[in-house]
Amino acid sequence: MSRAARPRHYLMCRPTHFTVDYSINPWMEPAKPTDAALAVAQWERLHELFLELGHTVELIEPLPGLPDMVFAANGATVVDGTALVARFRHRERADEAPAYLEWFRSRGYRTVAQAGFANEGEGDYLLVGERILAGTGFRTDRRAHAEAERLLGRPVVTLELVDPRYYHLDTALAVLGDDEVMYYPAAFSPESRRTLAALYPDAVLASDEDAAVFGLNAVPDGRRVVLPEAAVGLAARLRARGFEPIGIDVTELLKAGGSVKCCTLELRGAPA
Ligand code: ARG
Repeated sequence: MSRAARPRHYLMCRPTHFTVDYSINPWMEPAKPTDAALAVAQWERLHELFLELGHTVELIEPLPGLPDMVFAANGATVVDGTALVARFRHRERADEAPAYLEWFRSRGYRTVAQAGFANEGEGDYLLVGERILAGTGFRTDRRAHAEAERLLGRPVVTLELVDPRYYHLDTALAVLGDDEVMYYPAAFSPESRRTLAALYPDAVLASDEDAAVFGLNAVPDGRRVVLPEAAVGLAARLRARGFEPIGIDVTELLKAGGSVKCCTLELRGAPA
């Protein structure tokens, strides 16, 4: 099967102020040392890789005191040039939202909406073809799903996350194509598992090992799939399906509970 890559437009944030000094997910252990220089070096490599693959990458200025701002996927959800800016669940990240709001406004986005309910952008909202898969259970408020449906004009399918290690949808599921996903079934409630099995009977299923190294926190472009290099099982399965997996080391960022996809917000319909 031959796969075609489509150039993408991303927003990223350099981890200049990266550290783990609070804990809002089970991966974050403030007692464990972090290395901001190493985080920056790993992130720089990811940034470079996206450029080498032909994608366009814009940057948002990292702000001191917001160590999780590197996880740009959480800042907003952008569909058809409409940016729905996040409303963070935890106080520790709340000040990131005005920075994203300002960024989208200054870039001339057609519609920049402020969310009324807690939602963490593409951490929990993933566009698959015409529909949005929306996570809830840990961060994004279930009531936010109807708001996203209205503001982004796409049908939303609610999925319930049940394992605190996979607290955002993008830690448990990745979009491979308009009708193709890969996911870790155990991260979802039994009902959501049935929903996923019915919608995507042919999905790639991740093992415990691949999920635990954040293998699903991947950025596919139609052919290439950038993912954590430790997710070797997943990489083999993707290759067998005609994709080209590209492993990368972002383990320093994993100390905050984030990886490749968390660093990458897709700008769909960005103003020229
Ligand atoms: N420490 C961050 C948090 O807990 C990590 C965010 C990861 N981002 C993601 N899109 N899953 O909010």
